[in-house]
Amino acid sequence: MNLILFGAPGAGKGTQGALLASRFDIPRISTGDLLRESVRQGTPLGVQAKRYMDAGELVPDAVLLGLVREALASDAARNGFILDGYPRNVAQAEALDEMLCSLGRRVDDVAVLDVPDDVVVKRIAGRRSCPCCGSVFNIYFEPPRHEDQCDGCGGKLVQRADDREETVRRRLQVYREQTQPVLAYYQTHGTPIVTLEGDRTVDEVQAELVSSLAS
Ligand code: AP5
Repeated sequence: MNLILFGAPGAGKGTQGALLASRFDIPRISTGDLLRESVRQGTPLGVQAKRYMDAGELVPDAVLLGLVREALASDAARNGFILDGYPRNVAQAEALDEMLCSLGRRVDDVAVLDVPDDVVVKRIAGRRSCPCCGSVFNIYFEPPRHEDQCDGCGGKLVQRADDREETVRRRLQVYREQTQPVLAYYQTHGTPIVTLEGDRTVDEVQAELVSSLAS
């Protein structure tokens, strides 16, 4: 399964992608996570990316290319992958097609998680992540068992720097202007697109996602 999980910031791509990855034993490739790891390590790429991320803007396409190419060509992705957060504009969709073509592969499906803006803003305001193991919680909807502590590894949960409300509004605007046109690109290329109502429980969305991918 070579799947793109598509949707606005906070739509649940990371949450659903992690569940699918463990169910199908294929990697979830999140460009946001890869970039945040580069920022955390203070690499030149991370330093370059940080100011765009903090402002809610897209990081330049060239910065992403090497990261995505390496992840797709990795041994872990040989039986499939779940892309979360890539491609985010039409140029990235074209670059992805070229990368996959050189590997003799293609995108099988695009799954769109559709969630209203007001829900997204509340979800993001409540999001807390574990910097140690990457687990994601929500203090309103999916709270950890102990306040500010990761259920999985006990790490101290943090709020993302780009999760302030004004930055979220900008991320939503960027999504509408630059990312949504990617769907028309896949429509034109005949790639199957399934759209799911994402404003339901995590389990309900996952169940429909799994059954629609199976059919
Ligand atoms: P990225 O990390 O990709 O952020 P995003 O797309 O804005 O996505 P989010 O992580 O905010 O949301 P999500 O859909 O994964 O939702 P989640 O499952 O976490 O990108 C960050 C930045 O990096 C970008 O702004 C850009 O600067 C840069 N970047 C990344 N990729 C790039 C690219 N390709 N090109 C250029 N720049 C790039 O859920 C959110 C919250 O809701 C959580 O708290 C979760 O617990 C909760 N939740 C999830 N599902 C449900 C549910 N069903 N019910 C209730 N709560 C739920």
